[in-house]
Amino acid sequence: MANSFDASYYKRFYSSTPVHSRKKVALLADAVHNMCAWWDVPVRSVLDVGAGLGYWRDWYATNHPKVRRLSVDISEHACEKYDHEQRDISKWAPERKFDLVVCHGVLQYPTAKDADAAIKNLAKATRNVLYLEVPTASDLRNVVDKKATDLNVHARSGDWYRKRLEKYFVQAGAGLWVARSSDALLYELERTKK
Ligand SMILES: C[S@@+](CC[C@H](N)C(=O)[O-])C[C@H]1O[C@@H](n2cnc3c(N)ncnc32)[C@H](O)[C@@H]1O
Repeated sequence: MANSFDASYYKRFYSSTPVHSRKKVALLADAVHNMCAWWDVPVRSVLDVGAGLGYWRDWYATNHPKVRRLSVDISEHACEKYDHEQRDISKWAPERKFDLVVCHGVLQYPTAKDADAAIKNLAKATRNVLYLEVPTASDLRNVVDKKATDLNVHARSGDWYRKRLEKYFVQAGAGLWVARSSDALLYELERTKK
């Protein structure tokens, strides 16, 4: 079950049919950055958790070089090759908060206990906005491209994630979660009920 996140993992999921391409991440990062601007949330710092090839970090370096960037990953290989700090998000939170935290395709890997701890650490790390993508059991059955996606992961329900995330965040949709402690003001219909 356990994944090794070595060179063969990145080759398998990021070469011919990449699970996330640099071009697609650029579209997403632009949208997320601009939604923060729309909510008057300044993005002065960004933390990319489970950064992999470092697409988010690189997009910020190119497009908003003044934004302070930190990319972390559990993989020794990825940290060495793509220049991240080696951290396990289920055991680590930064000392200072980041305006924007990105956790893209990561939380399906840890066990339930570790994913629960990781969500607490993501909450500790987030001043304003968390961008989170994680395939749920339903996504793994019905949505993901099974040839391009790593299926050696933990399949949990959307409710499992929501129950934990909603303690700390308001769900705004499209992967955006606004910290309950943030000053950002969202209109009622820009967010889900609670
Ligand atoms: C599917 S890749 C996603 C990479 C990148 N975020 C992207 O969207 O392309 C999953 C990444 O999560 C990292 N990862 C898995 N468990 C982690 C953990 N507990 N803490 C930090 N990184 C983790 C892996 O090493 C791998 O680089």
